[in-house]
Amino acid sequence: MESSELAGKHLVLGLTGGIACYKIAELTRLLIKAGASMQIVMTDAATQFITPVTMQALSGRPVYTSQWDARMPHIDLAREADAIVIAPASTDFLAKIAHGMCDYLLSTLCIARDCPLLVVPAMNRQMWQNPATQRNVAQIRADGIEVLGPDSGSQACGEVGDGRMIEPEAAFEAICAFFQPKLLRGQRVLITAGPTFEPLDPVRGITNRSSGKMGFALARAAAQAGADVHLVAGPVSLPTPWGVYREDVQTAQQMHDAVMHATPDADIFIAVAAVADWRVDHVSEQKIKKIPGATQPSFNFVENPDILASVAKLPNPPYCVGFAAESGDLNVHGEEKRKRKKVPLLIGNLGPLTFGRDDNEVVLFEDSGATPLPRADKRQLARTLIAEIAKRAPKTGGPLLS
Ligand SMILES: Cc1cc2nc3c(=O)[nH]c(=O)nc-3n(C[C@H](O)[C@H](O)[C@H](O)COP(=O)(O)O)c2cc1C
Repeated sequence: MESSELAGKHLVLGLTGGIACYKIAELTRLLIKAGASMQIVMTDAATQFITPVTMQALSGRPVYTSQWDARMPHIDLAREADAIVIAPASTDFLAKIAHGMCDYLLSTLCIARDCPLLVVPAMNRQMWQNPATQRNVAQIRADGIEVLGPDSGSQACGEVGDGRMIEPEAAFEAICAFFQPKLLRGQRVLITAGPTFEPLDPVRGITNRSSGKMGFALARAAAQAGADVHLVAGPVSLPTPWGVYREDVQTAQQMHDAVMHATPDADIFIAVAAVADWRVDHVSEQKIKKIPGATQPSFNFVENPDILASVAKLPNPPYCVGFAAESGDLNVHGEEKRKRKKVPLLIGNLGPLTFGRDDNEVVLFEDSGATPLPRADKRQLARTLIAEIAKRAPKTGGPLLS
């Protein structure tokens, strides 16, 4: 999903000496694609791992490596930036910024800055665990610097453990999140997304055309807004948004059970999943065969539990937001569904015009009336919806519709 979510943001991206410099080409590409403008600054050691020529080509600007190249780059570059990101951040560089050292351009730039600083550590596990490094990281955090990662796993040196740089996509997501207003800070948000799958036999089942994109975009936007997000996902092949706790389920009953289990810990519940209304009463243990001359198979359906209505009628429910995917007459069906489910806010959309697409157009239904929102890409729309929900949701358990 492409977006221009960093349009208008100017970043100084500083590279220090580590193998993970190879990941920064991809990170730069992602940041540029999202609309950021970039000034690359490299330490001498970083230039041993990736060339300034590559970084210049990707960022579209000459790369700074020395404080003696221009008039006062350590001041000028910092003043233009909305944030400085150091990736990869070496053990050595973390020590420098923890102690306020200014022995070359990038370290001087960090000390002379008047903008936020984010560091993305990358190092061998022993270097990361070293008490000196841990002291420096604790000091950096205490100084208000954001530390993104590190990850755990196999390392370029052949060892396994904590210290590897988070992947470029994760660093990109964390940088995007950093710039979003924290409208839901401290709120716990439970979201369902995707379709459900109701088996008929071991190889077949009934599902629907929901892609999960809208629910995943909302989970991402809620996490970016500072919420603690639990996403209950039906069968979709989407990556888990950065910072979101994900639980995968298949059937409507499993989704219901997962949601009812998680609801006591939720302040806000957003039911985006397209849940099957019915399942077959008996799932065949063997594949149902096409036998020549045999009668056609027939199925008896039983109703699945209504997840949103079940949560909304709890004695102390979270603030409940429903989604309705209709095939027509949205204004009639949207308000009718909101009243039937007894929720304060229902977001209506037309299924055929949203399932699988990267954009969507919705109408908000609530006591005060219906408000259509303009068509937008799902990530942008998700941020708008999260802002609307944040305006309406109380800090703890929400009111029911009378
Ligand atoms: C092949 C090689 C790989 C290295 N990888 C890392 C690394 O991943 N992380 C790290 O902190 N230091 C690593 N180092 C050590 C740093 O490059 C060294 O401490 C350097 O002085 C850091 O300089 P800088 O912080 O000015 O960029 C590596 C050194 C070599 C020779």
